[in-house]
Amino acid sequence: MTTGCVILAGGEGKRMKSERPKVLCEVLKKPMLGWVLDAAEEFGFDKIGVVTGFKRELTEDYLKTRGDIPTFFQEKQLGTGDAVKQAAALISDTDCVCVLCGDAPFVDAETLGKSLELHKASGAGVTVITAEIADPTGYGRIIRENGKFTAIREQKDCSPEEDKICEVNSGAYWFDSKALLEALPKLTDNNANGEFYLTDCVEIIGNAAAYKSEHPDIVLGANTRKTLLELNERARQAVFERLMDDGVSFTTTDGIIIGADVKIGADTLILPNTIILGKTEIGKGCEIGANSYIENCKIGDNVTLDNVKACDSIIEDDVKIGPFAQLRPGTVIRRGVKIGDFVEIKNSDIGENTAVAHLTYLGDSDVGRGVNFGCGCVTANYDGVHKFRTEIGSHAFIGCNTNLIAPVKIGENATTAAGSTITKEVPANSLAVERGQTRIIENWQKNFKRKKK
Ligand code: UD1
Ligand code: CA
Repeated sequence: MTTGCVILAGGEGKRMKSERPKVLCEVLKKPMLGWVLDAAEEFGFDKIGVVTGFKRELTEDYLKTRGDIPTFFQEKQLGTGDAVKQAAALISDTDCVCVLCGDAPFVDAETLGKSLELHKASGAGVTVITAEIADPTGYGRIIRENGKFTAIREQKDCSPEEDKICEVNSGAYWFDSKALLEALPKLTDNNANGEFYLTDCVEIIGNAAAYKSEHPDIVLGANTRKTLLELNERARQAVFERLMDDGVSFTTTDGIIIGADVKIGADTLILPNTIILGKTEIGKGCEIGANSYIENCKIGDNVTLDNVKACDSIIEDDVKIGPFAQLRPGTVIRRGVKIGDFVEIKNSDIGENTAVAHLTYLGDSDVGRGVNFGCGCVTANYDGVHKFRTEIGSHAFIGCNTNLIAPVKIGENATTAAGSTITKEVPANSLAVERGQTRIIENWQKNFKRKKK
């Protein structure tokens, strides 16, 4: 049996008051559409397609970051039923198709699996994933006659009695592909919104099942900024709970945002105002924060990051960085390195036990083991047109205020004298001094001031 998944992402989301498609609104800095795609990919459908519409190019730009996902363009936003019609080519290529809403981020692979089991066992033409929630405002209501699920009624079309029903449509469904393709042309826009509702397929197909989820959160969707904030808060708390179960510590969770895909080891402490995003992995026994921003980094064990910004970098075990340091993309910090205040490192490899203690910029550099940088060292890696690399051998000593004009190479155990501007290779074991002679003029200030008067 081949399974397909159609994710609806064409709507404008007027209530968000955004210039961008609603499905790109973010929960924990990941677009809602990304959450839905993650669940779909984890489930492992044979085919996944996304229906785009409003500002399709923005949705397509995001999808490109996720691989090669086919899209179907819905020219006018005539409703969820019309949106699904656009994906007919994908549907007809499958036996069984799951429709998901790109604005309901908490659907998960486990629920998709269990609902498919019910769908197959019941022999239904359509199985709707539902949940009981305290406040059903805005959701389609599950209508049952003598307990049997017969229809979904949108809020605006509900009778006062139906309006009170708390079992709602999650917007996620399993369809027998053939039954869906037969039902879609029969949809009408004869309803309060004047839209083609996918939900009407339940009555058209007739033979319908409802899978009531144990986790009511999975139905939650965001149509407004207020509900988007609520989703963020729920997701944030869920991440904290998962991490605490894994042995991660928080003194307080104030101001801490950790993305859903972040992994952190036991005995690591996360301090306030710390944001950890993307595919970041952090080892055991670390102290991260306060005031740190970490994105897509791989961090080892026993690492201390104090007021650090680090993106797309690797930090090995036993490293101390901060306060007030930045690691820009492409940086590798090896075991035992110490990086102090006001240091920026970009696209560089810093060898084991090297110390970069204060006020230093290292860009496009390959630095060996046990190197010591004095205060205020700079690699001049850019001539305004091209970037060049700097190579520094193990145990070199780079004196305070050294400028290294790349491309340049400093040998092992070499030393540069404080204040030197190095433009040519310094051989191993040697000292490079680049300094003018000091002239001493006695009584200079006294004479100068007298002349001025
Ligand atoms: C829909 C369901 C409702 C359910 C709720 C769950 C219908 C008629 N109603 O309502 O029963 O409780 O989801 O969240 O289906 N979209 C398009 N093209 C369109 C319209 C929508 O691609 O023409 C996409 C949107 O981008 C969105 C999804 O379909 O991702 C759902 O659309 P939305 O307008 O948010 O539906 P709801 O009113 O939330
Ligand atoms: Ca919605």
